[in-house]
Amino acid sequence: MSFDQRVFRDALGQFPTGVTVITANPDGCKPFGVTANSFSSVSLDPPLILWSLQKNSDTFSTFEKTTHFAVNVLTDKQEAISNQYAKKNNHDLNDEHFQLGETGTPLLYDALVSFECEVDMCHDAGDHIIIVAKVLAMTEVNGAKPLVFCSGKYRELAPLEG
Ligand SMILES: Cc1cc2nc3c(=O)[nH]c(=O)nc-3n(C[C@H](O)[C@H](O)[C@H](O)COP(=O)(O)O)c2cc1C
Repeated sequence: MSFDQRVFRDALGQFPTGVTVITANPDGCKPFGVTANSFSSVSLDPPLILWSLQKNSDTFSTFEKTTHFAVNVLTDKQEAISNQYAKKNNHDLNDEHFQLGETGTPLLYDALVSFECEVDMCHDAGDHIIIVAKVLAMTEVNGAKPLVFCSGKYRELAPLEG
């Protein structure tokens, strides 16, 4: 069986996700962030999450040095933040976008929730690596609506009629 990569990508894009910005400040690096929708929950006990990073990302070598990072779940008011940190060569965090969390990791202001994590293990996975991490701390959920991504476009949640 064979299928076109573009068709495969479009098919995968039918699965709606939230949008996160992964932020970190490993030793010797400026605080940086990359937009990612591959975030997923993994385990409650121990508390584990995962996300995947494309190997050709400009941030790949920096993430190789990163032991701690934060997952910031974006709200439907943070589309501009998502676009900003999805631009190539544009991953330095603006000073006014973040504060440091309990573990010293940069956390985005006004995120729906932020998880401070420590890398547990990395799995090689084709053109990506899967980063599995232990959650060390989290902010309070602020009750805003999540930013949703589906079919290559940002969406908002709406209740079903009826
Ligand atoms: C909604 C959205 C979700 C994304 N999710 C991921 C992801 O899960 N993993 C990833 O490596 N890149 C993801 N990207 C791409 C990166 O944010 C970024 O565009 C890309 O890494 C830019 O290239 P650079 O990393 O080489 O600077 C996503 C982009 C958008 C807009």
